[in-house]
Amino acid sequence: MATHKLLLLPGDGIGPEVMREVEKIVGWFRKRGVGFETETDLVGGSAYDAHKVSITDAAMARADAADAVLFGAVGGPKWDGVPYEVRPEAGLLRLRKELGLFANLRPAICYPALADASSLKREVVEGLDIVIVRELTGGVYFGEPKELVTLENGQQRAVDTQVYTTGEIERITRVAFDLAKKRRNKVSSSEKSNVMKTGVLWRQVVSRIHKAEFSDVALEHVLADNCAMQLVKNPKQFDVIVTDNLFGDILSDIAAMLTGSLGMLPSASLGAEDPQTGKRKALYEPVHGSAPDIAGRGLANPIAMIGSFGMALRYSFGLLDEADRLDKAIANVLAAGIRTKDIAGPGMNAVGTQDVGDAIVKELEALS
Ligand code: NAD
Ligand code: IPM
Ligand code: MN
Repeated sequence: MATHKLLLLPGDGIGPEVMREVEKIVGWFRKRGVGFETETDLVGGSAYDAHKVSITDAAMARADAADAVLFGAVGGPKWDGVPYEVRPEAGLLRLRKELGLFANLRPAICYPALADASSLKREVVEGLDIVIVRELTGGVYFGEPKELVTLENGQQRAVDTQVYTTGEIERITRVAFDLAKKRRNKVSSSEKSNVMKTGVLWRQVVSRIHKAEFSDVALEHVLADNCAMQLVKNPKQFDVIVTDNLFGDILSDIAAMLTGSLGMLPSASLGAEDPQTGKRKALYEPVHGSAPDIAGRGLANPIAMIGSFGMALRYSFGLLDEADRLDKAIANVLAAGIRTKDIAGPGMNAVGTQDVGDAIVKELEALS
């Protein structure tokens, strides 16, 4: 039996709550003969409390050695005052950068049962199935200089730097076009070439790669502000949206609400394929954060985290039947009206985080 090594990094706030539900699912697959081996480590504020860093070198080494990392969420008001370099979010950024996870796939699917759970009208979101391909290791998140200095006149000056190179844009563009070819053959590239040099380069490179390698796929360029508006106005016009690190962060939170809740959006953060082994580094993380406002109360929706594990089944382990079964189990649980508060409709009784995890395991059992 092949073994699949998973590193679980539950993190802070609702991270550990939603990770516990994934562990139930992993346990169920293991009982059915899939060889998952799991290890757990600290990241974020919980790592800071124990070690005064947001992730230890030892945890980084474990992440590097794992076949896939499952990441919960980090951050929270408890760590507002810690030095910038060791804030909880820095642990996630280090994982992304050092593992080379440049491609972040954020699918936004409106499950049929949730067409009325969105804050938008049913007809706007019903049947929605789009993917945001977010560049994850470049742009303003990592550009230098990045500093906050006090000037001679006593004022402070803060600088963040947006940087992209041709190669960084080329590789994320290819991920987006490859994905679109397996879907509805359309890529919308989003930047601000009207005000940013990185936007100008982004548009040039995407157009060149399109012409040279993917001319059979439809390409459009959409300025990022317009893209945000179009996502709310008519999201079904999109198939694959490719965009930079910061715009991708913002556009994906918008896309989350089209599906009913931020608690519904999974993601996969992938590295380049190793030409020798065909393997790629991967970390699977819900799009949401640690949700301090609901943490510790059993209210969190675990579906974004469970769906992220579903993406691991698909992208890291090639377990396509298992991934399909998990998707079906989630859809059936939602259709049966078993929902956390964020997606429970009017007059519907909301259940807790654990109830949703238990119901999905029960449904997996029923489907097999
Ligand atoms: P958030 O995503 O944590 O929460 C935003 C809102 O969505 C809150 O009202 C929250 O209750 C709700 N929400 C989020 N996930 C939910 C779920 N699974 N079920 C039900 N409701 C859910 O964003 P925030 O409040 O701006 O950030 C809180 C902390 O999380 C910050 O420290 C931030 O840096 C961090 N953060 C971490 C990640 C990550 O670890 N990947 C992502 C985003 C934010
Ligand atoms: C996300 C988060 C992260 C980001 C933070 C926590 C660093 O918001 O994954 O969407 O901005 O990338
Ligand atoms: Mn975000």
